[in-house]
Amino acid sequence: MSLLQLLFGNSIGKKLVMAGSGLLLLVFLLGHLLGNLQLFAGPEALNHYAHLLHSKPALVWAARLGLLVLFGVHIVTSILLTLENRAARPVAYHREDTLKASLAARTMIWSGLTVGAFLVYHLLHLTLRVTGPVHHMTAGGPDVYANLVASFQNPAIAGFYLLAQILLFFHLTHAFQSAFQTLGWNNRHYTPAVEKVGVAYALLICGGNCALVLSVLTGYVG
Ligand code: HEM
Repeated sequence: MSLLQLLFGNSIGKKLVMAGSGLLLLVFLLGHLLGNLQLFAGPEALNHYAHLLHSKPALVWAARLGLLVLFGVHIVTSILLTLENRAARPVAYHREDTLKASLAARTMIWSGLTVGAFLVYHLLHLTLRVTGPVHHMTAGGPDVYANLVASFQNPAIAGFYLLAQILLFFHLTHAFQSAFQTLGWNNRHYTPAVEKVGVAYALLICGGNCALVLSVLTGYVG
């Protein structure tokens, strides 16, 4: 049996792929936030960081390919698992454990698909720069600082980013503990701590992203 059959051929394999890719995406989100926080250090710092990343095309494309695979397998396995669960239980019913499950847990596929839709817009907006007011350039490449400021000064763009961060927050809080459970790293001693770390991590990522947007929207950065 090939590795692909082993991972995608049954629901346990798919859950492992979804959990593993999700955890790696959590690491990416932290790195992405740390880079973007350079916004608070001013135009030179943020643009220097962005141009430094783009000065190594081979590295940039390897990272992009890795991210594409991670987002791709994460989204595909989550859709397949949701469809399998629905097929195994065609008539929805309320058991005590369903009622006890948090809103975040019950709406994972929807929060995930909305974050996916945000990501498509986000790539069109800031990577491909085909939507939004992102035409500022410097001698070294795109003026990422000016592009972010021009974008988040627009309440519609800022509002959409903020909404996406709220949904991302709900997605991440449940995702964190769920991934640990899938990987078998849970028991009644550790699970409450894992849940708390999950909420703190989600707050850090989504709170940090909201701070970037709000700092521009309120005129603190600009
Ligand atoms: C306020 C929040 C965010 C800001 C300010 C932001 C900023 C940016 C910027 C400036 C870029 C373009 C980098 C460049 O080409 O130089 C970018 C790319 C990207 N962002 Fe975000 N981002 C945010 C949230 C997110 C979130 C929540 C995700 C994932 C769900 C995400 C995923 C990505 C990805 C995958 C890329 C493409 C990387 C590449 O082109 O190599 N970002 N972001």
